[in-house]
Amino acid sequence: MSAPLLSVRDLKTHFTVKQPGLFSDDRIVRAVDGISFDIEPGEVLSLVGESGCGKSTVGRTLTRLEEATSGVAEFEGQDILQMPPAAFRPLRRDIQMIFQDPFASLNPRLTIARTLGEPLFIHKLAKSREEARRKIGETLELVGMDPAVMSRYPHEFSGGQRQRIGIARVMIVEPKLVIADEAVSALDVSIQAQVLNLIKRLQRKSGIAMLFISHDLGVVRHISDRVAVMFKGQIVEMGDKHQIFEAPKHAYTQELLSAIPRVASHREAV
Ligand SMILES: Nc1ncnc2c1ncn2[C@@H]1O[C@H](COP(=O)(O)OP(=O)(O)O)[C@@H](O)[C@H]1O
Ligand SMILES: [Mg+2]
Repeated sequence: MSAPLLSVRDLKTHFTVKQPGLFSDDRIVRAVDGISFDIEPGEVLSLVGESGCGKSTVGRTLTRLEEATSGVAEFEGQDILQMPPAAFRPLRRDIQMIFQDPFASLNPRLTIARTLGEPLFIHKLAKSREEARRKIGETLELVGMDPAVMSRYPHEFSGGQRQRIGIARVMIVEPKLVIADEAVSALDVSIQAQVLNLIKRLQRKSGIAMLFISHDLGVVRHISDRVAVMFKGQIVEMGDKHQIFEAPKHAYTQELLSAIPRVASHREAV
């Protein structure tokens, strides 16, 4: 068997929260409290669980937006949590994040061309302006947008279109691992399905590995190869998606499954 792309062992990310008052001790929030998982190249692992269970902190720790308290995360055999920031910088191309709110992550003052051109420039992926424009146009087409939108600004687009642009910005650098954190949660249900299908199609086509984070087990069904169920900072159950959906072992997984709205199961049926 091939080596995993990402191997996480006993990862903990704790936060110290200062308490007001002279005599109160600082409070420790154990947001991520000892989780382990692997992601194989080309595999989609979903991380699900209720709000506040620590999912985003996992994603943020793996992209070094938060500092891990302890544990190991090896990406292609390199420990990404301990390496100095300068050593991690080139890996920022390989490990990309899609966020819930594309509006918050798109700079309102940059045209779409510059929004997508910036990562090409930062990672030195285009030798000329012409090459950059060609790549930007191709990537916009890839996410179902007209390349003519290049000269426009983020506010001119709907939520779903903005998320497509956000996805284009990630895809344009050809990452090896995408961490999608509630990528469709802010969208209307009808748009959710379209964007989800797009992500799935792009993932299949490119063979990018993915950590797909969602509070909604219904959303992850189609996209996942495996599912990890998180509860209070820990993974309580992890398995093949068929096992998780058809034969969940843990009571909490069963509870999450029973909370999936009926419309979601209808959508699965079509
Ligand atoms: N920077 C931070 N400082 C203190 N507590 C935090 C910080 N980030 C997250 N938390 C807390 O960690 C827990 C997990 O948060 P989060 O990872 O955002 O959960 P989820 O994404 O599953 O909703 C929550 O209790 C949250 O309030
Ligand atoms: Mg979150």
